[in-house]
Amino acid sequence: MTPTARSAAGASFRFPEGFLWGAATSAYQVEGSPLADGAGPSIWQRFAHSPGLVKNEEHGDVACDHYGRWADDVRLMKDIGLTAYRFSISWSRVFPAGTGRFNAAGLGFYERLVDALLEQGIQPLATLYHWDLPAALDDRGGWLNPDVADWFAAYAEKVFRVLDGRVRMWATLNEPWVVTDGGYLHGVLAPGHRNLYETPIASHNLMRAHAAAVRAYRAAGKHRIGLVVNLEPKYPASQSPQDVAATRRADAYMNRQYLDAVFLGRYPEEMRDIFGDAWPDFPAAELESLREPFDFLGVNYYTRSVTRDDPAARPVRVARVEQPRHAYTETSWEVYPEGLTDILVSVKERYGDLPLYVTENGAAFYDPPHPLGDPHPDPFRVAYYRGHLRAVREAIRRGVDVRGYFAWSLLDNFEWSLGYSKRFGIVHVDYHTQKRTPKQSARFYADVIRTHGDALAGG
Ligand code: BGC
Repeated sequence: MTPTARSAAGASFRFPEGFLWGAATSAYQVEGSPLADGAGPSIWQRFAHSPGLVKNEEHGDVACDHYGRWADDVRLMKDIGLTAYRFSISWSRVFPAGTGRFNAAGLGFYERLVDALLEQGIQPLATLYHWDLPAALDDRGGWLNPDVADWFAAYAEKVFRVLDGRVRMWATLNEPWVVTDGGYLHGVLAPGHRNLYETPIASHNLMRAHAAAVRAYRAAGKHRIGLVVNLEPKYPASQSPQDVAATRRADAYMNRQYLDAVFLGRYPEEMRDIFGDAWPDFPAAELESLREPFDFLGVNYYTRSVTRDDPAARPVRVARVEQPRHAYTETSWEVYPEGLTDILVSVKERYGDLPLYVTENGAAFYDPPHPLGDPHPDPFRVAYYRGHLRAVREAIRRGVDVRGYFAWSLLDNFEWSLGYSKRFGIVHVDYHTQKRTPKQSARFYADVIRTHGDALAGG
């Protein structure tokens, strides 16, 4: 993949009619009250309460108290001018043990949220799985148990039956790569396993669960369902055959592993090279069943990787090469907006003309610890959004069918094993008082939305 040229100077930044302007969050990261109203514990509840696994022993017990403050938060969205909101549903609120007894009070929270969004003209996009597997299912093997696909489809079907009249956009899974790389290979995310042999099995069961939920949707729902993946374009650090091959492995592992599965019904051939004898021979009929047609793809984009061969870095045997002249975010991710154009274009080229949404994009930067008034100044984040929104516009200009954009995140929130140390919000959250203060980036985004993109021309 070669880097893209920037938009031609003077190009219009106006977005197509009907383009969705959104922001995103996820249940465990913002809601708090994880056990309220009869909910069961999730693997994140357990992980975060296990000593030493999350920075500063932080957890999501309170988070942003979105569970209590959802009505205020919907008003905040309205003030910014959002036309869409992506949130996730916590499986263990709806089925406390993952299967079996349905908990109407748990789903009731999302019904109230959705009704309030619709009243404000904000379109809900509900993700069914953003990493918080019911703990009771983990006790039964979690993503390693082949039955998980049926468990997930049964949960999804119940939610579709209650909410599909009001929610018209659904996502099955958020970022299967992170679930397996963080949760099963490196152990830095729940459920915290480190096992090469488990990782491909968890990945495959995630894909089976996605396809099973799409099939359940065709029976129970009438609108649109998709999958959300995090994609990171990989560029070789040099043209040496070793670096070029390493870049192919990195791309297969992170990007094509999931997209080839759902679009082509197969896994990239590099997977066996990466995993060796840990890569199982999946039955052909099962692979074929992954290719269940769905309605849109959500792309989460944060950064790119310039990749070199590194035989010691098993299993993928790649290393990321720092770019000394480029800016980096607080999570050490290179700021590289052109990569977003490149990855959107490459998805269209490889998999065809499916509607795409940028379902997450954003950055953690140092924000002053004490509120400096309203709006909170966050110039680096403003620059990040300007660059990346322009990159989306450029992909549209190049013929990619991008239909919406969701900033990550609406609120500063619980950044998984990094606790509350990294702030991704366009709205600042004071975790002591729960006061929300829009940052300069929220104002900037509001201007972009109000002008349908024209505000991107400045700066
Ligand atoms: C996830 C979010 C996370 C964000 C920033 C994405 O991988 O979907 O939950 O907070 O990245 O790390």
